[in-house]
Amino acid sequence: MSHPVPTLAAHLAHYPELAEHAKGWRHPFDAQTLRDKVILVTGAGDGLGAATAKTYATFGATVVLLGRTRLKLEAVNDWISTNTATQPVIVPCDLETLDMETANNLAHSIGEAFGRLDGIVHHASRLGPRAPLAHYALDEWLKVMQTNVNATFLLNQTLFNLLDASARACIVHTSSSVGRVGRAYWGAYAASKFALEGLSQVLADETEVAGRIKVFSVNPGGTRTNMRKEAYPLEDPDTLPTPEAHMELFMLLQQPLRENGEAAELITGQQLDCRDWRDKLQWI
Ligand SMILES: NC(=O)c1ccc[n+]([C@@H]2O[C@H](COP(=O)([O-])OP(=O)(O)OC[C@H]3O[C@@H](n4cnc5c(N)ncnc54)[C@H](OP(=O)(O)O)[C@@H]3O)[C@@H](O)[C@H]2O)c1
Repeated sequence: MSHPVPTLAAHLAHYPELAEHAKGWRHPFDAQTLRDKVILVTGAGDGLGAATAKTYATFGATVVLLGRTRLKLEAVNDWISTNTATQPVIVPCDLETLDMETANNLAHSIGEAFGRLDGIVHHASRLGPRAPLAHYALDEWLKVMQTNVNATFLLNQTLFNLLDASARACIVHTSSSVGRVGRAYWGAYAASKFALEGLSQVLADETEVAGRIKVFSVNPGGTRTNMRKEAYPLEDPDTLPTPEAHMELFMLLQQPLRENGEAAELITGQQLDCRDWRDKLQWI
């Protein structure tokens, strides 16, 4: 006798914030959609990173949680261990001081444990001060660039062979509106997000022919997180979408689908926006 397949709502009962949004998902992912995937999420202790890690684990992925604050990573780790069938790995790491040796050690550990990597979602980011460029402090500029750009480059480079060992890997660079159109006083943060857009496009072009690694940049737009609060302290957070509101897109990026009965896949190199991606998706 076959067992009834649980509905998506039943599957997500332990994660009501996600279940609320999943009701409106156009693509019916099942509980095993990301089974056997190993995905590194940076900034996984909070905000969009925590939501992405919890969502991927809920759909079966083994997530490697990289972040700065061990306690926050442990909280996400505990949630995932309690509420999903997967067991994450935590990697406390300050990207501001990431060097080649540390990045190589991480790659070695992931290689030893899993033999490959199926995705990286680069959420970790430093906001830096809001100041005119004429007065922007050099040390702040360097910290933002190191965390947001150099560390991303270093992780992509040292983990490349493990990504290449996957049948289908995906790298997501989390961008920003000010990484696509510059805006006064956003200083190094805006410049770093422009750099990420460039890094994303170059890498997408370099990997397109082999076809095993897909690369995207995603602009979440205003989202209810600590970083947004830091940037807009007077804004009412309740007017903003939660990180979970964006998770259908983060699911789609990791997984080819069937669209109108055909296998469908997003075109590598796309710049996506969490607010309007449904109208602008381009499929192979
Ligand atoms: N929220 C928005 O409105 C919005 C809009 C556009 C783009 N974004 C982008 O979305 C991404 C996620 O941000 P969020 O809104 O979710 O903010 P968040 O809740 O503040 O999360 C940012 C994460 O980055 C981590 N991080 C910062 N510096 C780090 C470092 N040196 N090493 C390791 N981890 C570090 C933080 O760790 P700790 O918690 O331990 O400090 C935190 O987990 C970022 O790339 C951001 O630029 C957000």
